[in-house]
Amino acid sequence: MGILEDKKRARIFYKYFSKVYDYINPIFYSSKMREKVVDMAEVGRDDFILEVGCGTGFTTAEIVRRVGEENVVAVDLTPEQMVKAVTRFENSNFLLGDAENLPFRDSVFDAAISAGSIEYWPHPQKGIEEMARVTKSGGRVVILAPRKPDNFLVRKFAESVMLFPSTQQCVSWFMNAGLEDIRYVETGPYRFWSKLVVIISGRVP
Ligand SMILES: C[S@@+](CC[C@H](N)C(=O)[O-])C[C@H]1O[C@@H](n2cnc3c(N)ncnc32)[C@H](O)[C@@H]1O
Repeated sequence: MGILEDKKRARIFYKYFSKVYDYINPIFYSSKMREKVVDMAEVGRDDFILEVGCGTGFTTAEIVRRVGEENVVAVDLTPEQMVKAVTRFENSNFLLGDAENLPFRDSVFDAAISAGSIEYWPHPQKGIEEMARVTKSGGRVVILAPRKPDNFLVRKFAESVMLFPSTQQCVSWFMNAGLEDIRYVETGPYRFWSKLVVIISGRVP
C-alpha cells in the first residue's frame, strides 16, 4: 500500500498541498479529461449529481456547467481543499465526509462521479460500492484513476506513494460492485502522456 492510502495521512497531506494544489493539478489533469469524466456519467440537465473527493472544485466546475450549482452535492475529506470549492459554488451542497462511508441514503443521485481521489482510498472497492449504493437504478458511477505506469521503476516509485490501479483492476472493482455496461478509456493530458489515467463508468442495475 502507498504511504498516502491512509485517510489520516491523506488529510494531512492535502492540508498543506492545498496551498499549491490549484497550480499543480492542471499539469496532470486537463479540462478535456474532466469533460470526458462528466460525459461518461451521461448526465441530463436536471440531474442530481454526487461528486466524491471534489477537492478545490475543478471537476465540480464541469458538473455545475452541465446541471447547475443547485443540483450538485460534493464530498471531500479535507476541509482546506473543500473550502475553496465552497467559495466558488455557493449554491452547491458540500459535506466533509469519507468516500468509503458516504452520508446518504440509498438511490438518491442520478449519477456519482469521482475524479482523481480513489488513489487515496484504502479500500477502493468499498468506495465504489458506496457510490453505486447512493446512485439510482439506471444511473452511472464514474471514476478517474491514475493508471498503473508501464515502466517498472516509475511504477515501483508511484505505488510506494499511492494507488495506481491497472485498468483491469478497475473493471474488476466495478463488476464486483454489481455495475453493468462497464466502459472505459485510457487517456492523458499530452501526446507523450496519453495513458496517464483510466476513466471508467458503469451503470447501476
Ligand atoms: C487530487 S484531489 C482531486 C480533486 C478534484 N476531484 C479535482 O478534480 O481536482 C483528491 C481529493 O480527494 C480527497 N480525498 C482523499 N481521500 C478521500 C476520502 N477517503 N474521501 C473523500 N475524499 C477524499 C482529498 O482530500 C483531495 O481533495
